[in-house]
Amino acid sequence: MYTCGIDVGSVSTESVILDNKNNKIVSYVIALTGSNSKNAAEAAFESSLKKAGLKESEIKSIVATGYGRINIPFANKNITEISCHARGVVSSFPDLKTVIDIGGQDSKVIKLEGGNPIDFLMNDKCAAGTGRFLEVMAKALEISLEEFTPIFNKTSDKVDITSTCTVFAESEIVSLIGHGVDKNKIIKGLIYSIADRVTTMVERVGLEEPVCMTGGVAKNLGVVRALEEKLGVKLNIPDEPRITGALGAAYLARDLH
Ligand SMILES: Nc1ncnc2c1ncn2[C@@H]1O[C@H](COP(=O)(O)OP(=O)(O)OP(=O)(O)O)[C@@H](O)[C@H]1O
Ligand SMILES: [Mg+2]
Repeated sequence: MYTCGIDVGSVSTESVILDNKNNKIVSYVIALTGSNSKNAAEAAFESSLKKAGLKESEIKSIVATGYGRINIPFANKNITEISCHARGVVSSFPDLKTVIDIGGQDSKVIKLEGGNPIDFLMNDKCAAGTGRFLEVMAKALEISLEEFTPIFNKTSDKVDITSTCTVFAESEIVSLIGHGVDKNKIIKGLIYSIADRVTTMVERVGLEEPVCMTGGVAKNLGVVRALEEKLGVKLNIPDEPRITGALGAAYLARDLH
């Protein structure tokens, strides 16, 4: 029997097909959400079926999650990101106590006990401390998202970014570039600025090890290192951190029977 989880995020939509016999991922797809979340979910589902060599009728149930989860008519149920992320991480790290998820539009810290979420904090009101902040800065600095990590690793000093708001921080870096400040030091400063924001959130929820980081920003190893330094802990990262919510949704779809 197979089940499917679909996570419709602000930036990306993931579809994961799970083989319930052995709890193995049969296929997964990560696609851009774009302007129509319903179409994105349909397209991701179709291509995950194709990759798995399965027909729609072979999927026993589908759970949708993410901000666009309400608008997926072919899903049997929609479940919050907090529950789906918790279920997704526990499949890789059963003893986990804290999850830090940084996506494109929000960042969240989830506290777990016995694999279940017992508390969480979510920042979805402000772009600072999210992947969107890094996207805006990458554009202003004319670099790709993939360049943050190598620049972080090779640069020793940083320039502190004092603005906490994304819009003001963008003006601040444009002004720093205008004053001839080394671009790499600005980039390192930006990475520490996002790590500072997330550290404050983690401290409010209370840090307990083991800790896992998920979401697209977990691909930015500069942010991962800066966070490890600030928090003083090692962050576990799943093999593909972006599919955590969809994977958890596929597990929760299995539990519907
Ligand atoms: N290869 C990469 N290297 C560095 N950063 C990346 C990479 N891929 C994605 N990101 C970061 O991940 C962010 C998107 O994360 P993700 O796909 O988890 O978002 P989402 O789930 O759609 O958003 P949300 O959960 O907030 O609705 C981007 O804003 C970007 O900062
Ligand atoms: Mg997400």
